[in-house]
Amino acid sequence: MNIQIQKNPKGDLVHLLTDLTQLAQTDLLKEEVEQFENGVKNKIYQQVFFRNHRPEWLVYVPCIEDEDANFEAFRKAGAALFKALKQYKISEIGLINQDKHEQHTYCFLEGLILSSYQFLKYRSDAKALQHDLKNISVEKESTNAKSIAKLSTICKAVFLARTLVNEPSNFLTATQLSEEVKAMGKEGMFKVSVYGQAKIEQLGMGGILAVNKGSTEPATFTILEHKPAKAKNSKPIVLVGKGVVYDTGGLSLKPTPNSMDKMKSDMSGAALVAGVLYILGSLDIPLHVIGLIPATDNRPGGNAYTPGDVIKMYSGHTVEVLNTDAEGRMLLADALHFAKKYQPEFVADFATLTGAAANAIGDVAMVAMGNIGDYYMKKFKKIGKSVNEKIVELPLWEEYGEMIKSEIADMKNIGGPVGGAITAGKFLEKYTDYPWVHFDIAGVSFRDSAKHYLSAGGTGYGIRMMAEYLIKMSEK
Ligand code: BES
Ligand code: MG
Ligand code: ZN
Repeated sequence: MNIQIQKNPKGDLVHLLTDLTQLAQTDLLKEEVEQFENGVKNKIYQQVFFRNHRPEWLVYVPCIEDEDANFEAFRKAGAALFKALKQYKISEIGLINQDKHEQHTYCFLEGLILSSYQFLKYRSDAKALQHDLKNISVEKESTNAKSIAKLSTICKAVFLARTLVNEPSNFLTATQLSEEVKAMGKEGMFKVSVYGQAKIEQLGMGGILAVNKGSTEPATFTILEHKPAKAKNSKPIVLVGKGVVYDTGGLSLKPTPNSMDKMKSDMSGAALVAGVLYILGSLDIPLHVIGLIPATDNRPGGNAYTPGDVIKMYSGHTVEVLNTDAEGRMLLADALHFAKKYQPEFVADFATLTGAAANAIGDVAMVAMGNIGDYYMKKFKKIGKSVNEKIVELPLWEEYGEMIKSEIADMKNIGGPVGGAITAGKFLEKYTDYPWVHFDIAGVSFRDSAKHYLSAGGTGYGIRMMAEYLIKMSEK
């Protein structure tokens, strides 16, 4: 999608209105104004009028006190308009936001563009299905160049991440994932280096190797880095993403069809981290940020790790494996230990880690926990609310640590029947010695059906929150 700023926007005109008095600034006839006003019932409303056989779209978004709620209303309105544009096979629109509020324009376009995502690589009828919208020109008083650059970069990153998630595991092996991240690094101007199986063995990353044992594909450990000359932080920020390209559960096999169908999405954390680095690199955000992606598939092949095995982790800790389906924490533990060498300002990990997190809050928010402290946590929550990638915090109380104690090793890889999201967090905590926050994105990363601007399949949920957080941080 090509977005431009223009004095006189071209294509089908779209008027964005927040107040009915703004109807005076359109070229609507008196009876059309009345017709529109009658349709508006204090909710998002859109209607199309025709000027010389050319459609002219009017979109009304009533604003309330809560700015975050308004932002989301604009995104939804953008998504709703896209639906209509697609139906009418419209290829070019010109947007005039009559309230001239840059952030309102931003959110409206964000909703519109994000809802235009399609994954058609494997469809023979891709050409026919492809939507027609190619060009958007925005009236110059409604936005600014910086805002448009940020918007297109963030949307592009979300699309790339969604595609990574949507790619099935018969294409996206751990090695292919590292190749895709390399390609993203080239385009998004961040550095990528990849450790293969041999290097992972040499380092003794026992958690990753254990999960990889049942697979015929080698594991990878990908390091992403954005290091601008004028970074504002002296200690790097590290982002860790779970890269399980397919999770069968291993020998503790998941039942199919219910819980295995979507497990190609178990690398959503990895996709998120790559997406965020893409944004930082493309926009040259003055922060030093490192990404770590431990990747493998989890399968019950001949030599698979088994319940009862004791694994020596990269950190030197020992883990009694009691469920091979609790594989994410095995991989992440090694990556979190690896992160220590950077003496990071803080580490944030993103993982489709537990069904328990998804059960607790569904597809409405991410679950977060950590020792990062209230100052950071409040900011994450605030920004999460403003981009509508919401965050619910769970406690890491010591009682939950009791639940992962093992008789024969330093810990076991599962807790009891309850508190599963937190016991997973407690497990990860053991491998950190820096300010740390863990985001469990199991409930939000993949959808069966589209909702507003979130497409079916991979959602890219969390990218906008994390990117916005870092951009804000760099502006201080
Ligand atoms: N990848 C799954 C978690 C998951 C579940 C992600 C649903 C997305 C949707 C993870 O590896 C897993 O299997 N977790 C287990 C842990 C349990 C065995 C302690 C779970 O949540 O059931
Ligand atoms: Mg699992
Ligand atoms: Zn998993």
